[in-house]
Amino acid sequence: MTRVADHEILPLILNRHSPRALSGEPLPQAELLRVLEAARWAPSAMNIQPWRFLYAQAGTTEFARFVDFLLPFNADWAGKAGALVVVMSNTVMPDGKPFAPHAFDTGAAWMALALQAASMGLVAHAMGGVAQDKIRAELQVPDTFTIHCVVALGFKGNFDDLPERLKPREAPNERRPIAESIANGAFPDAWK
Ligand SMILES: Cc1cc2nc3c(=O)[nH]c(=O)nc-3n(C[C@H](O)[C@H](O)[C@H](O)COP(=O)(O)O)c2cc1C
Repeated sequence: MTRVADHEILPLILNRHSPRALSGEPLPQAELLRVLEAARWAPSAMNIQPWRFLYAQAGTTEFARFVDFLLPFNADWAGKAGALVVVMSNTVMPDGKPFAPHAFDTGAAWMALALQAASMGLVAHAMGGVAQDKIRAELQVPDTFTIHCVVALGFKGNFDDLPERLKPREAPNERRPIAESIANGAFPDAWK
């Protein structure tokens, strides 16, 4: 299925999606750094840059450990990622005060990462289906950090190698009509 935008937008935004067919080939450091560099340039409140990324490349002992962080419904396809990246954010500012926009800003960084990956022909697929407690314990993530997701990064693989249950979900999906997400001025009753 080809996506169609109701209003003209950048093709990169429209065509980025989250496939699951991955090749298993390790993602070289140079490509990985380009993708993470894009996240670095995301905007953030007061330029605090609350995002943090912990990565592991396929073929390393760290990677096997990161695959263990994934819930089974993700591990069966994301185990063939070229790298796995834990996305987290620091919830406090350098002065120790809470930093409320940490999740908003880290979401922006994830999107920059995803668009950069798409522009390079790579897969970037976020997964919230992860064992957060395990990640926190094993990577010794302090309580002041929020763990958001793990991103499967890598080279596209063969559709035929996907588990049967995932094949129908491999095509780019749709969006609800824009009128259900935007409103002019007043807060619509439909949103309450
Ligand atoms: C924070 C976050 C968590 C997600 N968790 C999962 C997940 O655990 N497993 C999965 O297969 N896809 C996951 N997804 C992918 C979404 O289902 C997908 O982005 C959404 O359906 C829109 O599709 P698209 O990214 O192909 O446009 C996640 C996406 C985000 C942003």
